[in-house]
Amino acid sequence: QWTTASIVDDTVAAIREQIGDRRAICALSGGVDSAVAAALVHRAIGDQLTCVFVDHGLLRSGERAQVERDFVAATGVRLVTIDAVDRFLGALAGVTDPEEKRKIIGREFIRVFEQAARDLQAEAGAAGEQIDFLVQGTLYPDVVESGGGTGAANIKSHHNVGGLPDDLQFDLVEPLRALFKDEVRRVGLELGLPETIVHRQPFPGPGLGIRIIGEVTADRLATLRAADSIAREELTAAGLDRDIWQCPVVLLADVRSVGVQGDGRTYGHPVVLRPVSSEDAMTADWTRLPYDVLERISTRITNEVADVNRVTLDVTSKPPGTIEWE
Ligand code: XMP
Repeated sequence: QWTTASIVDDTVAAIREQIGDRRAICALSGGVDSAVAAALVHRAIGDQLTCVFVDHGLLRSGERAQVERDFVAATGVRLVTIDAVDRFLGALAGVTDPEEKRKIIGREFIRVFEQAARDLQAEAGAAGEQIDFLVQGTLYPDVVESGGGTGAANIKSHHNVGGLPDDLQFDLVEPLRALFKDEVRRVGLELGLPETIVHRQPFPGPGLGIRIIGEVTADRLATLRAADSIAREELTAAGLDRDIWQCPVVLLADVRSVGVQGDGRTYGHPVVLRPVSSEDAMTADWTRLPYDVLERISTRITNEVADVNRVTLDVTSKPPGTIEWE
């Protein structure tokens, strides 16, 4: 019987077999895959696992709390959060090119994770132990895809915890290697993870950094975070979360337009709503959201978010447009 419970039991047994009484670390991204992988490994080896969460300051509203509070409450995982907000903003200062942003964010992420891994290794060493394993949330489609990297997958540089230096080499633990996304979600629910994590829509590793068109600054992040949070709230309230694949909100930080808000003329920035429907993100169609939902999002964003005086809708499919703007 290939039930979810039996997948969990078999996987937990296999992890115990692989890791034994040794130690492992896992980088949490806030996404489904790393959360479920970590929860499985935690069920297998408990506190021999330490999770690391890097706050790069490019997260959406509430995402850090979702990891630090909800995920930890649901699993009891031992978590170390690294606050690297200033470091990432510093590295991104003055940068506007999308690929350059992606490379910088990927590079800084590896460096911060490396340092965290070294610190944890030193801590384990002081206790006469050592960390031998790195947990990754690789899914079956990732395994297949990396076997024959296609053009489409390589249009943008994605980041993962790869490319660690030689003195930080770990054996990989990949408990989701045989699973598809829907199975991963079922396993997550079986393990008691909150719906908000299990059914989270895709969110790119470089986060809001690639949803600000122009330089990434703390003020612009705050603006985008506020607009994004309103859009997500309204889509959730309208019961649309399961109907759309994801809905990036993009801040056109270098564009201004004239508006009239309250008693006066404003000269603010537009945001773009990019709701898409998709099966696998390789192709996508723009989602025909109900007008009343669009209206609520638009009214609230322009009323509640200073600096934004215009809300626009992206009606491009993929191809030719990618889902993200950068
Ligand atoms: P594009 O923009 O290429 O996005 O149509 C396809 C899907 O991938 C997500 N995406 C990323 N996910 N790291 C990730 O983990 C990344 O660097 C990254 N860039 C894009 C995007 O949100 C969409 O679901």
